[in-house]
Amino acid sequence: MENIYLVGFMGTGKSAAGRLAATQLGWKFVDLDALIEHAQGCAIAAIFSRKGEEHFRGLEHAALAQVAEGSRQVVACGGGIVIKPENIALMKRTGVMVCLNASPEVIMARTAGTGQRPLLNVPDPRQRIAELLAQRAPLYAQADVQIDTSHFSLVEVAAQIATVPLR
Ligand code: S3P
Repeated sequence: MENIYLVGFMGTGKSAAGRLAATQLGWKFVDLDALIEHAQGCAIAAIFSRKGEEHFRGLEHAALAQVAEGSRQVVACGGGIVIKPENIALMKRTGVMVCLNASPEVIMARTAGTGQRPLLNVPDPRQRIAELLAQRAPLYAQADVQIDTSHFSLVEVAAQIATVPLR
């Protein structure tokens, strides 16, 4: 199966760059969070506040498993998709796992003030970003390809995604 799975922290541009890369490849674009929101009929933040993070992680895994049946798709995953080892295994089995990276400063600037990211709705989001980045670093490191987005435009990042070697 040919798929490109975009992983990486919140605010690294997975959805925007992924959509553009899919257009360049002539592939389908799938946004996993949007798929979950559509199926549940409410926003991710509402799922977190009503049912909790564990419940969301279950929905996220189920959505990934469903999408992984398809081919020729660029899939933008939520930043926490790597928390479950079975998600990493599934992505690698059915495509290429590409991690988008950005500095904590860039992430802070890109995620500030939207209120849409429940994990960053805390008094000190800067500290939370640093903690989560440290926790997840070994998980994001398992991606097949790493792309640094801090110093590149959306178009440049999309071009790098669209030309990753497929297996
Ligand atoms: C999360 C990232 C979010 C969303 C949820 C949890 C995370 O997706 O899935 O708020 O754990 O990093 P984006 O990375 O698209 O913001």
